Amino acid sequence: MRHQPGLLAEANLHSLYLLFEAEPGTEALIRHHLACFHPMINDYVDEYSESELSSFVAIGSEYWSVLFPEGRPNRLAAFPGMAVESRVAPHTPYDIFVHIRSDRVDVNHLVGTHVCELFADSLKLIEQVKGFRYLDGRDLTGFVDGTENPHGEKRRRVALVDHKTDPLFAGGSYVHIQRYRHRMDTWHEIPTKQQEDIIGRTKSDNIEYPSAEKPAFSHTKRTNLKNGLGESIEILRQSMPYGTMRVQGLFFISLCHDPNPFKQMLKSMIEGDGRGHYDRLLNYTQAETGAAFFAPSIEFLKRFL
Ligand code: HEM
Repeated sequence: MRHQPGLLAEANLHSLYLLFEAEPGTEALIRHHLACFHPMINDYVDEYSESELSSFVAIGSEYWSVLFPEGRPNRLAAFPGMAVESRVAPHTPYDIFVHIRSDRVDVNHLVGTHVCELFADSLKLIEQVKGFRYLDGRDLTGFVDGTENPHGEKRRRVALVDHKTDPLFAGGSYVHIQRYRHRMDTWHEIPTKQQEDIIGRTKSDNIEYPSAEKPAFSHTKRTNLKNGLGESIEILRQSMPYGTMRVQGLFFISLCHDPNPFKQMLKSMIEGDGRGHYDRLLNYTQAETGAAFFAPSIEFLKRFL
C-alpha cells in the first residue's frame, strides 16, 4: 500500500497546516473529496515540480468512526491529554488535518485555497498555521531540531504501519500534533549554558552531550527512551516553527507506526522520572492544542472515488 507522500518528505522551507471540523451529515461528500485529494495535489506537484510540494491528510481519532464506521486502525486512540502542575498537554480534537509543505509559500497558499474549495460544503476551517524553516533548521529557541530523526529506509519503518500489524491500514501513520507557544522572553533571559543543559546538546554547533553529562531533566534525556529489550523507541518528527512578532512557537508533529511512543515520550516529559526530573523545556513553552489522527494509505482514500 502506498503511503501519502507528505508523511516521509524531507524538510522543506514552508508549511501550511489546516485543521477542520466536519459539518454533520456530510460524511459521503467528505469520503468522496478525500478520494479526490491526492489526484488534485498531484496536478500541482507536476505544475510546480521545483517546489518539492507534498501533502498528507489525516482523520481525527474521534471522527474516524463517524466517517468510516466499517472499521478503524487497530491502535487509534484519543490524544493522551495530561497535566501535572503547570505542565499541560491539552486535548483539542479536530476532525481533519491537512498538511501542505513545499519550498514556496505561494504554492502552499494556492494549494491550501484549492483544498478549502474542495471541502467548502463539508468542512469548517477551525485553525490555520504557517510553518517556516528558521535559519539552518532550528527551533525558535535557537537549537537545531530534527537531528536525531530516523533517516533513509528507517524513516519508513518508524513512521508507517506495516502489513503484518494491520493489513487494511498498512502504509498509514498515527499522527499527533501539538501547537506549542514559547515564552521567548524568559528563554532569552537564561544563559546559553543553561539552555544547552535543558536541551542536552550544544547550541551553535549542535553537538550531543555525552550520555553521562546529560541532565535527567534535559529534553533529549526525557525523550530518548528504550523498550524492555533495550531497543530505542522512535518517532518521526515533522515539526516546524511558526509565529508572528507577538506569538511564537513550534508546531510539533509526530508520525509513527504506533501511537504509544509519542504517549510514552510526552509522559516522560510531563511526569518525569518519578524523582522530580521533568523536562525543563516545559518551563519555557506550553502546548496550547493537542490532537490525534490517522493518515491512511493512498489506496484506502481512493476507495471512495
Ligand atoms: C516546544 C516543543 C519542542 C521543542 C522546541 C523541541 C526541540 C527539540 C530539540 C532542539 C531536539 C534536539 C535535536 C534533535 O534531535 O531533534 C529535540 C529532540 C527530540 N525531541 Fe523534541 N522538542 C519539542 C517537543 C517534543 C515532543 C512533544 C516530543 C515527543 C513527545 C519530542 C521528542 C523528541 C525526540 C524523540 C528527540 C530526539 C531525542 C534523542 O534521541 O536525542 N519533542 N527536540
